Amino acid sequence: MSEQPQSRAHRLLFVADVFGAPGRRAIEQHLPRLRDELAIDFCVVNGENAAAGRGITAKIADRLLACGADVITLGNWTWGQQGFAPYLSGAERVLRPANLSPRTPGRGLTVHEGVAVINLLGMFSLTPFENAFIAADRLVEEAQRSTPVVVVDFHAEATSEKVALARYLDGRVTAVLGTHTHVQTNDARVLAGGTAALTDAGMTGPHDSVIGSEDHGAIRRFTTGMPTRLEPATQDVRIEGALVEYDGGGRATSCELVRVPVDIEL
Ligand SMILES: [Fe+2]
Repeated sequence: MSEQPQSRAHRLLFVADVFGAPGRRAIEQHLPRLRDELAIDFCVVNGENAAAGRGITAKIADRLLACGADVITLGNWTWGQQGFAPYLSGAERVLRPANLSPRTPGRGLTVHEGVAVINLLGMFSLTPFENAFIAADRLVEEAQRSTPVVVVDFHAEATSEKVALARYLDGRVTAVLGTHTHVQTNDARVLAGGTAALTDAGMTGPHDSVIGSEDHGAIRRFTTGMPTRLEPATQDVRIEGALVEYDGGGRATSCELVRVPVDIEL
């Protein structure tokens, strides 16, 4: 970042929740090209559903990083795959939500190539250890000691909570981008104070589905109330997310939806 002229807009690609093998293939087979085509300087990928829809493994995290993710963020499925915790304790560019218990491995803030990334977990229907807004105050201050470019992945269920955090942090961070619902919202915008905001970035995975899972199991769960194994669907794969432009001072100048249908080889 520091080598680029101050006047040039920097471009951040935020990739929404990568879901299962279709989502992983979409990233492996298309992210390098997309980064080039969109002239991306920095890429954040939410990978919390990358392993069959539940969590991520060390091997998958390494592959996403190798394909062009600069930082990977997670969410409520951080501990979804057994044996992942030791990897997280040593990872510099794979974040768990910062507002989990401080007694868990991993970190929720990292600074890489002049960009600070913060991962937070919402409170409605999820179970963070600490209030996300109070944690955000502390983390943003910490991040700003290193860089003015601060990107927040707010992994949360409620639209109200996500809009509120974006407005709470307006003028203090570059972007507040929501994840978790897998349904992209049509509200990409730059707020008055210069913070890019999007309530939910969507899903990178199979959209001919119930938010990534095959219809039959998901509907059975709702019609019977019985525990039902959900299988990732396979069709209508898209890379979804957001493209944010920002200046050298970390102020966002544009925020647009990204929705790219892709063909994949499974
Ligand atoms: Fe989630």
